[in-house]
Amino acid sequence: MNSSPKRRLFVTTALPYANGPFHIGHIMEYIQADTWVRFQRMGGHEVHFVGADDAHGAPIMIAAEKAGKTPQQFVADIAAGRRQYLDGFHIRFDNWHNTDGAENHQLAQDVYRALRKSGLIAMRDIEQFYDPVKGMFLPDRYIKGQCPKCGAADQYGDACEVCGAVYAPTELKNPYSTLSGATPELRKSEHYFFQLSSDRCADFLREWTQASNAHGQPHLQTEVLNKVREWFAVDENGHGGLADWDISRDAPYFGIEIPDAPGKYFYVWLDAPVGYLASLKNHFDKGQAAAHWHAASRTAQSYDTFMADPTVEQVHFIGKDIVYFHTLFWPAMLKFSGRKTPSQINVHGFVTVGGEKMSKSRGTGISPLKYLDIGLNPEWLRYYLVAKLSSRVEDVDFTPEDFIARVNSDLIGKYVNIASRAAKFISQQFDGRLGYFGTTQEITDAAQALAGDVAAAFEAREYARALREVMAYADRINTAFDAAQPWLLAKDETRRAELQGACSRALAGFWLLSVVLSPVLPALTARVARELFGLERDFVWADTAVLPQRVAPYQHLMQRIDPKLLDKLFEADAPAAAPAAAATNGKTMPPAAAPSAIAAAAQDAAISIDDFGKVDLRIARIVHAEAVEGSTKLLRLTLDAGETGDDGQPRTRTVFSGISSAYKPEDLRGRLTVMVANLAPRKMKFGLSEGMVLAASAADERAEPGLYLLEPHAGAQPGMRVR
Ligand code: MSP
Ligand code: ZN
Repeated sequence: MNSSPKRRLFVTTALPYANGPFHIGHIMEYIQADTWVRFQRMGGHEVHFVGADDAHGAPIMIAAEKAGKTPQQFVADIAAGRRQYLDGFHIRFDNWHNTDGAENHQLAQDVYRALRKSGLIAMRDIEQFYDPVKGMFLPDRYIKGQCPKCGAADQYGDACEVCGAVYAPTELKNPYSTLSGATPELRKSEHYFFQLSSDRCADFLREWTQASNAHGQPHLQTEVLNKVREWFAVDENGHGGLADWDISRDAPYFGIEIPDAPGKYFYVWLDAPVGYLASLKNHFDKGQAAAHWHAASRTAQSYDTFMADPTVEQVHFIGKDIVYFHTLFWPAMLKFSGRKTPSQINVHGFVTVGGEKMSKSRGTGISPLKYLDIGLNPEWLRYYLVAKLSSRVEDVDFTPEDFIARVNSDLIGKYVNIASRAAKFISQQFDGRLGYFGTTQEITDAAQALAGDVAAAFEAREYARALREVMAYADRINTAFDAAQPWLLAKDETRRAELQGACSRALAGFWLLSVVLSPVLPALTARVARELFGLERDFVWADTAVLPQRVAPYQHLMQRIDPKLLDKLFEADAPAAAPAAAATNGKTMPPAAAPSAIAAAAQDAAISIDDFGKVDLRIARIVHAEAVEGSTKLLRLTLDAGETGDDGQPRTRTVFSGISSAYKPEDLRGRLTVMVANLAPRKMKFGLSEGMVLAASAADERAEPGLYLLEPHAGAQPGMRVR
């Protein structure tokens, strides 16, 4: 490990859209990357770890407009909230910038000019969807319809969340505007394209995606490469393969202007990854400015010289939803603008909570700030997530019971306990001095074996494996300590050497565990290094070869998790209880009781206004309705209740409703109705139903058939509360 030559690393995480606070998915990505970066730093390698806000694009422009702010102000307000999350979870970026910064304008335009010079930019008139009601060209994300590849319903206009396909919105089947529900019209506009379909690009990408970097690691994980191969594949009809990439958008747009093309802006996904470079440049420029004043600063170097060093490795951490952009567009942009291409694209899966896709707007998920606010220890979460992460693209599930069990039994029960049990004897009886008596060879051999295995696992992002090894080692230390029965030795004056030896071996084990856990538990292990072992610095990896000689009196290191805190974490902030009565999700309201029965029911089970207030009723627009294959009763409705998803994008809901006997899908599209918004989502055979629409019917539906959907008077808007 210490013998490996010094690496120079440029590490990034995906740039989060600047239209909402961090969610637990972002935090997981940062914890994964931060752990890797800390591990590299402990080995003495040079690492520059940068992030930035992804500021541009139509959704942010529209959100800013809604908030009555300029996009710049809107983005700055979001940026102001970032620090508390990053510091709170000990995520140590060297720099945090944003893609609207001057560096990014410059770099994105430079990249574009270079691509143009390489002959890879083309201009074509395209037919683009235009919303005749809203009076604007529709960004991809505001058009939904059926995926042209797999047929999944309600997919966005740029990519399918079900099969991962990327396509043009005009390829969608049965498209509709999510802004107005209108069927979009095709209109002409001149667009700029990056010619990804050219032989030059395709040949390069075919090779690059399969190749390995200078350290012998493949650029892509096997499963990612398999996905990419599907994207390359051309069928016998000549369909498939890489298509040219539309990189321009028409004004009005919040973005970077395309040189020599008035009224045209780069599509946000062109300048977003360039933002990695912009943040690095900003970081170096700041370092150089500082060095100008403080001549001694050793971090000063220029962005250009750093990036010109062929040994510099460029490592990106991203989630599984943005693979296409990072494995095809991005390497090709870099290659053909004459820049360094990535060394590794590390793709992770998604965080789920209790097995469900998290969504703040649906009241699931975990709020990272609330986690910190109620006093949950950030390193519990780091430990838990790291213990579940591997190098594969797998989702990571957070369940409260598992979280409590894992942290309490591993971190406290196995690790922290060693110090609290062994240090006491050494402080009280040996004045803090450790003594090993006899050969220490087998201790150092075992330590080197563990350190080697754990280092290899961290390097390969096999974190779960790393922590399994660490905890197995902790088990062995505890077993040996118990077998020595120090509490009996302590009563026998003649066996002091044995007592000191047993405790010292346990503490040497604790030292080793602390060193190798440092990338995961930076704050705790910093205290162990300084307070318990008297080091005046944090641990470095080479400390795995060191045996400690002294300990200070043990001070409390870490608490067990109180399950009550977890209850608090999952407590809804706003009332979100399931509605009363026998309302079933995915169906319409049960038939009302006969009029005479209503009064009686009111007597029996009157509810308070507060009870009623628990039901969140909203006006919703039926932006889309369609028959459900395999069901004669259900229609699949797509409802817009003016909501925004965790990603800040307008969000619609899917609701299955048993009204197909009364309505044809085409008669419902565009109409308003009333939706129960806080009904717990329900898995149905045909998909997830995320609410319920209200309809009237007779007490006995069979005697008096007929279903009547509720519709508000004119003027009501999607999202308005009904009360
Ligand atoms: N702005 C783009 C990225 C541009 S990179 C040049 C974007 N932003 S995002 O905010 O939607 O996502 C940022 C990162 O968070 C992505 O890597 C994404 O995969 C990750 N995650 C979003 N939801 C997630 C989970 N539920 N779980 C884990 N990571 C998830 O995409
Ligand atoms: Zn699909």
